[in-house]
Amino acid sequence: MPKPKVLVTRLIPQAGLDLLQEMCDLEINPEDRPLTRAELLARVADKEGVLGQMADRIDAEFFEAARVLKGYANYAVGFDNIDVTEATRRRIPVSNTPGVLTLATAEAAWALLFAVARRVVETDKIMRSGTWQGWGPMQFHGQEVTGKTLGIVGAGRIGTAMALMSAGFKMRVLYTNASGRENQALKIELGARLVSFDELVADSDFISIHTPLTPATRHLFRADTFARMKPTAILINVARGPVIKEDDLVAALRARRIAGAGLDVYEFEPRMTAGLADLDNAVLLPHIGSATTGSRTGMAVLAARNLLAMLQGEKPENCLNPEIYEPGATST
Ligand code: GLV
Repeated sequence: MPKPKVLVTRLIPQAGLDLLQEMCDLEINPEDRPLTRAELLARVADKEGVLGQMADRIDAEFFEAARVLKGYANYAVGFDNIDVTEATRRRIPVSNTPGVLTLATAEAAWALLFAVARRVVETDKIMRSGTWQGWGPMQFHGQEVTGKTLGIVGAGRIGTAMALMSAGFKMRVLYTNASGRENQALKIELGARLVSFDELVADSDFISIHTPLTPATRHLFRADTFARMKPTAILINVARGPVIKEDDLVAALRARRIAGAGLDVYEFEPRMTAGLADLDNAVLLPHIGSATTGSRTGMAVLAARNLLAMLQGEKPENCLNPEIYEPGATST
């Protein structure tokens, strides 16, 4: 039997490719850039499986072009690039890669939090400029983290991991979550409190965003949110850029309405809003939350395993639309 044709839209770690290579006839985008829309639509025409990433829009037009598709595996935990309703309507399984990147992404949030609170990037630049004249009592005052209040917006896997990592810093932890139910790990380990979004915004010294991007979370942080935050507050985002209205953030940082921000993701990724890069109180990373060797390898293996299951007609481990496997499910 001929092997199923599979497209990998962007080069991923070899461990994932090795798994696919045995069973599939692989076409891999060899370039270190996403495929253009036209390239993607042209290349999926004869593919039974696609392993893609967040720059690939998996919507009705994609499914129309991918006429023999049996499954799509996202190389990411976030899946706002996939129209899951449309996939389900067509009975095409889609999957993501939860779990394997939890710690790496939570650690990246901490890296940003400390970098902003202790002005790491700004002062590193001063050292490199050769202008530093020596230690001074009034120089570069930042903020201590220990004992402060950490607000986690979206206490899912990554938000929970970030909160649990705060134990050594003896922080008071507040959190919100979409289910509205208490997070037992956070309650038992940290005595953390589930609060309203408004309470979290007003009371937190550090706010870390971990919510998925949905219509309800788009622009959750905008001018009126910044107005309700403490002027000393620092905002961290390792989730999805459009949760913050970026031009409002630039204005709030510029006016010192809030003290600082650490961003790994951007509203118009990969572009940044004008003015953001000029601000000393912002630390800016190029979407590296999951970028450790272990995490990215884990994502490659998981995405490949998910895709192989779909190609064999089995429900993948991380299926985003498991209802299509229920007896009697039909396409609409
Ligand atoms: C990265 O942003 C991911 O969703 O995996």
